[in-house]
Amino acid sequence: MQSEPQRQRSARRGSRPPAPKLVQTSLPSIDDVAATIWRGLTADSATIPARFLYDELGSRLFDAITALPEYYPTRTEAAIFAEHLPALARLAPVQGCTLIDLGAGSCEKAPRLFPFVHPRQYVAVDISVDHLRTALERLQIEHPDIEMLGVGTDFSTRLELPAAVRRERRLFFYPGSSIGNFEPHAAVTFLAGLRAAMEPDGALWIGVDLQKSVDVLVRAYDDELGVTAAFNRNALRHVNALLGTDFAPGDWRHVARYDRRHQRIEMHLEAGHEVTARCPLGERTFQRGERIHTESSYKHTPEGFRDLLARAGLRVVGHHTDDEQWFGIFVAVPAASS
Ligand code: AVJ
Repeated sequence: MQSEPQRQRSARRGSRPPAPKLVQTSLPSIDDVAATIWRGLTADSATIPARFLYDELGSRLFDAITALPEYYPTRTEAAIFAEHLPALARLAPVQGCTLIDLGAGSCEKAPRLFPFVHPRQYVAVDISVDHLRTALERLQIEHPDIEMLGVGTDFSTRLELPAAVRRERRLFFYPGSSIGNFEPHAAVTFLAGLRAAMEPDGALWIGVDLQKSVDVLVRAYDDELGVTAAFNRNALRHVNALLGTDFAPGDWRHVARYDRRHQRIEMHLEAGHEVTARCPLGERTFQRGERIHTESSYKHTPEGFRDLLARAGLRVVGHHTDDEQWFGIFVAVPAASS
């Protein structure tokens, strides 16, 4: 909704705010997607890539997870932003930036930055441009002076920014600790891609979940109500829709465990009895107790994450955490610029 002064301003100009621009890059074909998933399902240790947790229902279940008492990351990150936004905005030049929001979804987090970084252009990036349309139309009315651009692309596999994205002072915003889903070497590759797209005057604001007691971690990924279990099992419904497999989610138990060696939470689906999954691509039998690995969520230390950024050519200029140091927001700039 428009505030009264905003409404008067647009009324005075006698013009409607410009419509946000929307660009969709080509997505992999359904055959390629099916082949990728089937390869994972038929490997000796079966996997479903974590991005397939997020169909329509999966995204809603994740939203429900963020409201659970056990799931601390979302609210802890929000509290850090609420307290330290002005300080974060002073760590690297950001005024008039091109604000690039990775995984924007319903565009709820980035607009809180607007009063502090005064973006000239706001670029919302998500896998599908359809997720962005409504949110950007609303934002454009509230902020008629910020150029709004929606980009639909799978940035996790390859960062492909259309020419409409301004090159000046790019501020990449990657909240939510989704970087935790990357294997460390893949995280470095991904971050180096951001570094390459950044030009010397750019910066990165990134939210990172930090190491803490295993108890707290496991509870966050195996909640009392079973919402995370439903979120995990829903991957099978999504796979059924994409591949034509016949998984029955009820055959599978949700498992969340902390792997100390890799410093990551893992989610698995464990077969409660022997299951044979069939689809046009073939079939695979799972023994009782056999697991499908659906997600790894790495937990970093501030030093470890600093290191990861350094390997990607990025230098941390500061970071803020909550009092318990459960979650961190890091600000990094290209290492070459001093
Ligand atoms: C959205 C990737 C940050 O790893 O904590 C929540 C996803 N998985 N509960 C995370 C998730 C299980 C979440 N990220």
